[in-house]
Amino acid sequence: MAKQVLVSGGAGFIGSHVTVELAQAGYDVVVADNFSNCDKTCYEGVCRILGKRPPLVEMDFCDKAAVEKLFSDYQIDAVIHFAAFKAVGESVAEPVKYYKNNLLSFLNLLEVASVKGGNVLFSSSATVYGETDQLPVTEQSPRQSATSPYGNTKQICEDILRDSVKAYLGLKGIALRYFNPIGAHPSALIGELPRGVPNNLVPFITQTAIGKRACLSIFGNDYPTPDGTCQRDYIDIVDLARAHVCAVARMLDGKMEQAYEIYNVGTGRPVSVLELVTAFEKVNGLKLNYKFAPRRPGDVTAIWADPTLANEKLGWKATRTVEQTLASAWAWEKHLAEKQ
Ligand code: UD1
Repeated sequence: MAKQVLVSGGAGFIGSHVTVELAQAGYDVVVADNFSNCDKTCYEGVCRILGKRPPLVEMDFCDKAAVEKLFSDYQIDAVIHFAAFKAVGESVAEPVKYYKNNLLSFLNLLEVASVKGGNVLFSSSATVYGETDQLPVTEQSPRQSATSPYGNTKQICEDILRDSVKAYLGLKGIALRYFNPIGAHPSALIGELPRGVPNNLVPFITQTAIGKRACLSIFGNDYPTPDGTCQRDYIDIVDLARAHVCAVARMLDGKMEQAYEIYNVGTGRPVSVLELVTAFEKVNGLKLNYKFAPRRPGDVTAIWADPTLANEKLGWKATRTVEQTLASAWAWEKHLAEKQ
């Protein structure tokens, strides 16, 4: 019988891509989402890609009774937890909202899952490394104190998972630290759906290219980097989703060497903002309206992953080029425009 994987926040950007990859790898997937930060567009896209409708449970993980009901209605072999708020600026403005939602939902999940000796995969972030001059970063690189409540919830949830697997017999945990997920599914049926003005670079680029935004501001061109703009490790969303399939397989096939493991999920390749913009223009054959603007407070100069551990232990490697990924992001933006 196929193993069943619960994807909390499974209707969102990363969750929807993970649902597709898990289902295509032969897992049964249960999607749970409260649609607080997305609509049904991506869930419907997932159904079209798969040609079937994974069970969808509309629920809030802050509601403990709902989490208990979910685990009694379904035989869950592993959980991937995405259900969390993710806007850095909003977390600074509304810290209590962020701590309450991101911590309570994870605690409820762990409380129920740990009783059953569960397998829990937590979606963490490279944000835990903060500003660092040891590049590329490995999983052993020290975490810096978080610069936002959002980043702090990622650190705290990692710690909660680490402590829980120590305490609760049979519980296993993996934290995946994502670098910068970008792009969309090659079908252009699922992708990122930012609400309002995008904070992240690639949705801002595609919205500028389609004419929704007048001009991209490149935040800072006086950084100590080769071209003066910040460097990041942009990871294709489908590559990223496949890392989850590898991690779930490692858990469910009894391959974990420790009860709690952490992996960087990145390409190992630094790309500057200017390089990304130029690659976008070139691969899609268009000119982007952009200007240089002051630095954005809180941005780190440069960060990219050493993904060796994930390559070796998960048997996972990023495969897509930044050009392929930027072409997929543009195809998704055009798909959205056609629907309007
Ligand atoms: C941000 C978050 C990170 C989160 C990630 C999720 C911060 C400090 N970090 O990462 O915690 O996990 O999103 O995807 O907010 N840029 C521009 N113009 C824009 C937008 C961005 O020049 O309009 C630049 C930024 O200065 C940065 C790069 O593009 O150098 C990437 O920015 P972004 O996509 O927001 O990601 P991060 O800030 O790296």
